[in-house]
Amino acid sequence: MDKYVINGGHRLEGRIHIGGAKNAAVAIIPATILAGDVCRLENLPNISDVNVISKILQELGAKVTRINKSTLEIDPRHINTYEAQHDLVKNMRASYYLLGALLGRFGKARVPMPGGCYFGVRPIDLHLKGFEALGAKAKVASGGMVQLDSEKLIGSHIYLDVVSVGATINIILAAVKARGLTVLENAAREPHIVDLANFLNSMGADIRGAGTDVIKIRGVESLGGATYSIIPDQIEAGTYMAAAAATGGDVLIENVTPKHLESITTKLVELGAKVEEFDDAVRVSRTQPLLKCNVKTMPHPGFPTDMQPQLAVLLAVGNGTSIVTEGVWDNRFQYVDELRKMGANASVNGKIAIFEGVKKLTGAPVRATDLRAGAAMIIAALIAEGTTEIEQIYHIERGYEDIVEKLRAVGADIKKIEDYSADTDSMSS
Ligand code: EPZ
Repeated sequence: MDKYVINGGHRLEGRIHIGGAKNAAVAIIPATILAGDVCRLENLPNISDVNVISKILQELGAKVTRINKSTLEIDPRHINTYEAQHDLVKNMRASYYLLGALLGRFGKARVPMPGGCYFGVRPIDLHLKGFEALGAKAKVASGGMVQLDSEKLIGSHIYLDVVSVGATINIILAAVKARGLTVLENAAREPHIVDLANFLNSMGADIRGAGTDVIKIRGVESLGGATYSIIPDQIEAGTYMAAAAATGGDVLIENVTPKHLESITTKLVELGAKVEEFDDAVRVSRTQPLLKCNVKTMPHPGFPTDMQPQLAVLLAVGNGTSIVTEGVWDNRFQYVDELRKMGANASVNGKIAIFEGVKKLTGAPVRATDLRAGAAMIIAALIAEGTTEIEQIYHIERGYEDIVEKLRAVGADIKKIEDYSADTDSMSS
C-alpha cells in the first residue's frame, strides 16, 4: 500500500497544466468499439482508470497502441466477442459503458455489474430501461452478469426520470447504429456528454442536442474511425482551483475550458478568492480571509458533486457556518470523518453536512475513502499545520495524473512513499 506524506503550510504559486477529462476518456475509449476503423485518441489523462479500460478493450480483441503519454491508437476491428469477463471489469464503474457499446455493435452484451467508488446504492436501472426501449431484452443473471440481447435495435422515445450521466451515455452508444430516430429527454448535460457526441459524430454518427436536455440520435449504418482530442478535465481543474484558494496561493491553471468551471468559480469567489478567466486558463488567488458559503450539488450546469469534498475543505476553515447539501448521491460524506481527525468541526445528517469553520486543521493519518474524498484530503493536508499521511491513495491515482509532480511544481511539500507496508513487514521480520 502506497501513501502520500504532506507537510502543510506552503502556499501554492505557479502554473499547473490540466490533462484530459477522465469521465470523457472512460466513455470515449469504450465508444471506439463501435468504430469501423482505427481511432486515435489524444489528450488522454495518464491515470489508472484509462489504463484499465484500455486493457479491457485489449482483452476483448482490440489492438491498443500507446503513441505517447497522452495518445492511444485503438483498432477495434478484431473485437469478436460481446462478453467482457475480465476481473478488471468488475472493479471499474465506467465498465458499464461496455454494455451500450457492445450492444450497439453486436446486438448483445455480457458484462458484470460495475464496481467503482461507493456513495450508496449505484443502480443501473435507467440504463437497462433505455436498452429495453431500444428493443433489447435485459436480464441480470445470478452472479451479477448483465445480459442484453436484441434482434434489431430500433430508435425510440426515452424519458429519463432521474438525470443520469451514465444512462445518457449508454443510451447514446446503443442508439447510434440503431434503425431510425431516438429522442432522449431529460438527458444529462455534462461537458463529457458533449465530448462523446462530438467524437461519435466525427466518426459519422448523427447526434444532435448534446449539452441540452433533449438529445436526438438518428441511427447510421456504420461508423468510420477518427482522430479526436479529449476535452480538459473540469474536476481536475476545479480541484487545483480549490487548492490554490485554500492555501492563499496564486496559480495559473492552464489547458481548461473556463465555461465548464463557472459553477466552481462562483463558489470560490463567494468564499473570498479571486478568479481571472482567460481563453484557456484561469488564475486563482486569495489574499483575504476565507468566508463561508452554502452549496448544493446538482447535475450540470449546477455545482458538481465531484467537487463537493474539495470545496468542503475550504468551508471547514471558513469564517462561519456553511451548509453543504448533496443533491446527487445518497452517501458522499464519508470523508467528513477523516476531516474531523484533522480538527474540522462538522456534522452530517443524511444528505446535509454542516461545517462550523475552525481556525486551523492539524496534520493526522487519514484515508482517501474514494477518489474525490482523497483529493479533499490532499487539500486539507496542504493547509494543515504539521504532517498528514494519506492512505488508500490508489483511489486518487484512478483520476489525477501526476498529482505529486504537479503539486510539487507549485510549491507543495508532498511525497509518495511506495509500498510502505512491505517496508514495515521487512523491518519487523
Ligand atoms: C458519473 O457517474 C460520474 N462517473 C461520477 O463521477 C459523477 O459523480 C456522476 O456521474 C454524477 O455527476 C463517470 O462519469 C464514470 P449518474 P454515474 O448516473 O454516471 C441515480 C468521479 O468522481 N441513478 O449521473 O454513475 C444515481 O443513483 C465519479 O469522477 C439511478 O437512479 O452517475 C445517482 O443518484 C464518481 N439509476 C444519480 O442517478 C440509474 O440507472 C446520478 O447518477 C443510474 C443513476
